[in-house]
Amino acid sequence: MQQAELFVRYARLADSGAISAITAEYARQGIMLERSNDNIVENIRNFFVAEYNGEVIGCCAIAFYTLKLAEIRSLAVFTRYKMKGIGRLLVEKAESVLREEGVREVFVLTLSREFFSRIGYSEIRKEYFPQKIWKDCTHCPKLMACDEIAMVKTL
Ligand SMILES: CC(C)(COP(=O)(O)OP(=O)(O)OC[C@H]1O[C@@H](n2cnc3c(N)ncnc32)[C@H](O)[C@@H]1OP(=O)(O)O)[C@@H](O)C(=O)NCCC(=O)NCCS
Repeated sequence: MQQAELFVRYARLADSGAISAITAEYARQGIMLERSNDNIVENIRNFFVAEYNGEVIGCCAIAFYTLKLAEIRSLAVFTRYKMKGIGRLLVEKAESVLREEGVREVFVLTLSREFFSRIGYSEIRKEYFPQKIWKDCTHCPKLMACDEIAMVKTL
């Protein structure tokens, strides 16, 4: 894809509908946790989007847990744009912002082991992280049958 037409930026409020559409597609497939429109709007400042020719085609969000630990979440790229380097660009943008904030360690809870492994993340036992990272689990339909793995990267 031509880089000139593709860039990653902080999300704006007007992007919330697109973010909702991208994440809902995977939530329906059980690959991601569903986020309501309200939840996306409330957290819009934590989101980044990939824009290609004026269309939002991917997103991800950051969540801070301590001064040194953060999570990358809600990472998704529209199916037709997968495997073109967009996911990597989104994660790199999120990581650079986390680095600027002094965060040292970033983790993901994911089913996409191969992708995250490819971009430098290693699998780790979930128990390594503080309890508060599990606050969303109570809303998850898979609560007692969680199949996500935790992966971590030192920034
Ligand atoms: C995971 C996801 C965001 C990856 O985005 P993407 O734009 O397709 O990934 P990229 O093109 O940036 O891939 C980066 C590298 O990972 C590899 N990769 C990506 N997906 C892969 C897969 N499913 N299996 C193996 N390798 C994969 C690519 O080949 C590429 O490798 P390279 O270093 O040789 O170039 C995308 O597949 C997606 O939206 N999945 C559904 C939602 C999801 O699972 N989100 C994660 C929740 S935390």
